[in-house]
Amino acid sequence: MALPLEEAPTSIDPELEELEIELLLEAVYRRYGFDFRQYARASLKRRLWRRAYAEGVSSISELQARLLHAPQSMEQLLLDLSINVTSMFRDPTFYLAFREKVVPVLHTYPFTRIWCAGCSTGEEVYSLAITLEEEGLYERTRIYATDINESVLATARAGIFPLDKMQQYTQNYIRGGGKHDFSRYYRAAYDAAQFSKTLTENVVFAQHNLAMDRAFNQFNVVLCRNVMIYFDKPLQDRVHRLFYESLEQFGVLALGHKESLAFTALADRYDELDAAERIYRKIR
Ligand SMILES: C[S@@+](CC[C@H](N)C(=O)[O-])C[C@H]1O[C@@H](n2cnc3c(N)ncnc32)[C@H](O)[C@@H]1O
Repeated sequence: MALPLEEAPTSIDPELEELEIELLLEAVYRRYGFDFRQYARASLKRRLWRRAYAEGVSSISELQARLLHAPQSMEQLLLDLSINVTSMFRDPTFYLAFREKVVPVLHTYPFTRIWCAGCSTGEEVYSLAITLEEEGLYERTRIYATDINESVLATARAGIFPLDKMQQYTQNYIRGGGKHDFSRYYRAAYDAAQFSKTLTENVVFAQHNLAMDRAFNQFNVVLCRNVMIYFDKPLQDRVHRLFYESLEQFGVLALGHKESLAFTALADRYDELDAAERIYRKIR
């Protein structure tokens, strides 16, 4: 009988499996510097088994050996673990709230630095750049767009996305408060949409690992959506501390509706700008 592709064989002792997973994560960290030790366990386990089956090995220990000796397998695992699903104007109501609640704040600054953390293949960054452009802010903004994964950043830099997604993105753009014809931002060629290079003129793409790296600037806005859901509580706390330290006084933290500041040690350091979209302002 074929095994479901994401589960351990039923004969595996759960304690032994947990030990093997811990050793694999330690090995990956020590060999490659990627720290997945504090990623939420259930989905991590599923993804490890999926990679194990794809590599044709039948235990986590064998997968560990494969990863240590074959860097290309590690590249694949990185893609598997870092769940890069994204889209333009994803959750359009977020962009509406950003236009209504954050843009007026940014208009009071001569220059704005924004950190888009966990930007994946860049759709969120282009959406943000378009929003800022339409609100008359892009010229005086610098966006730092980071991700743990170099290969998604390469896609982000290129700004070429599948043409067949444009219909859905146009709907999202309109629902997110878009002011023009969305097609003005890209050029269609065959099955691809090449986005205007002006949208990345003020963007710096760089690798940054939220689990290990330090703050690297002071920002007026930190945007991090659909990333911390994959982290366990201690790692979420680390990242919240990092964002707090990276924000200027009165800086804006935008988390999107899947994440929250509630029940974190830093909750009382922020005011709520938009409850539904989890947009906060650092007040102390
Ligand atoms: C689901 S995508 C979210 C993309 C975008 N923010 C959005 O909401 O559409 C999650 C991204 O987080 C990145 N990521 C995962 N762990 C990370 C880490 N430790 N440091 C930085 N980025 C990480 C992944 O590579 C992935 O591109």
